[in-house]
Amino acid sequence: MKHVLVIAALVAAAGSAAALKNEPVGYPEGYRHWTHVKSMVILPGHPLENPFAGIHHIYANDPAMDGLKRGAYRDGSVFVFDLLEYAEADHAGAEGARKLIGVMKKDAKQFAATGGWGFAGFKGDSRTERLVTDAGAGCFACHASQKDRDYVFSAMRP
Ligand code: HEC
Repeated sequence: MKHVLVIAALVAAAGSAAALKNEPVGYPEGYRHWTHVKSMVILPGHPLENPFAGIHHIYANDPAMDGLKRGAYRDGSVFVFDLLEYAEADHAGAEGARKLIGVMKKDAKQFAATGGWGFAGFKGDSRTERLVTDAGAGCFACHASQKDRDYVFSAMRP
């Protein structure tokens, strides 16, 4: 009987460790209430045109804001890259439909293979339709250039 209990406990522990390890970065509920870090328009012809053409706004939660000030990020820091269509008309540039959101979440242990950051992408306004299927390797390949800034491109602007 004792053996059965021990085995059950081991199986449960292994199961939760595996679940923790494979848990993808979730949809960042409420990010539109976080701090707006910056915005940028990417026009056709820019190297990031595909897939990032449009107007994007970057948001940071409170731990990520602390990290922006310090240049290093603690677990739980999250950035969101909110990308919308962009069109110029009547001498004005305006937002259109949402194209995607990109998410970066810091968890040094879980995402050790990609600089301690987990990456996710959600299509349009969907909270479930995922765009990142390679555990963030493709995202990290480009963010790796920012190693000295803990893989974050954005800088603090008061
Ligand atoms: C080819 C390069 C490249 C790739 C690939 C890339 N990014 Fe980025 N990412 C950038 C750049 C450049 C910025 C800064 C944009 C700005 O200054 O407004 C950025 C900014 C971000 C930010 C805001 C935090 C920061 O670093 O400033 C998030 C979140 C983000 N990217 C998520 C992703 C996700 C998720 C993927 C994969 C689906 C991805 N990125 C792939 C170049 C890239």
